[in-house]
Amino acid sequence: MDINEFLTEIYTDAQHNPFPFSLERTLAQYIYDATDETSKTLETGAGLSTVIFALKGTQHTCVTPDKNAVVNMLAYCKQKNISVERIDFQIQRSEDALPHLQLKDLDLVLIDGRHAFPTPFIDWYYASSGLKNGGILIIDDTNVWTGKILEEFLCLEAEWQLVKRIRERAVIFIKKAGGGHAKEFHQQPFVMLKSVSQDAGIPCCWRAAHQALGLLYNGKILTLIQKIIYRIRLYYYYGPQRQKKHK
Ligand SMILES: C[S@@+](CC[C@H](N)C(=O)[O-])C[C@H]1O[C@@H](n2cnc3c(N)ncnc32)[C@H](O)[C@@H]1O
Repeated sequence: MDINEFLTEIYTDAQHNPFPFSLERTLAQYIYDATDETSKTLETGAGLSTVIFALKGTQHTCVTPDKNAVVNMLAYCKQKNISVERIDFQIQRSEDALPHLQLKDLDLVLIDGRHAFPTPFIDWYYASSGLKNGGILIIDDTNVWTGKILEEFLCLEAEWQLVKRIRERAVIFIKKAGGGHAKEFHQQPFVMLKSVSQDAGIPCCWRAAHQALGLLYNGKILTLIQKIIYRIRLYYYYGPQRQKKHK
């Protein structure tokens, strides 16, 4: 089945959409374009996105506790003659399943399961360990606070490069390097930025300056500008509010 035929059918006629949740069409197209049958992919949650992975024939792991969502998706794929043989369904909550899965060399991870605190962070923690350097991380529903915080955290982490925001709904990052999970809190700019201690704030500035010089040295001017704009935005939104609160 052709992707345009599939997306047009799903997005233009609600009656033809058997999936209770929606995925931004731009995001659906992005996933389609970014993968092929050599890709190793993982998603938390299931639905329309799972059909896209099936259409591309990726070696896919789908983690969801929702048996009905999987049954619906399988019925749809059968009706449309889309093979699901390369999908490994893990019918469990991602919080329970991910720590036990052997996740390695993933090319793309889609976090779109339970959006309540702290699940997106757990999903990110485990799934991103299995993501290869250069791999794609997608966080869906960044209109929900948990997704937004994860986005803001990663925007300030040197190991992650922001690729694209899809309206205020989803965000796409590239993993530049591993090792992030070994960091202490004072090595995480977003944690420092959002922390109240004056003592914590000072070294944060030095670290930011050090990071900025590193990016300059490596010629990553665009990333530097993105990070500066993001910091200004974070200070603008959260700085005064934080000071008022703790006076
Ligand atoms: C926003 S929907 C996913 C939409 C899907 N990506 C699509 O394109 O249609 C969220 C999904 O996460 C599933 N879910 C709920 N709790 C979960 C958990 N703890 N772990 C993994 N998935 C969960 C829900 O059953 C639901 O299918």
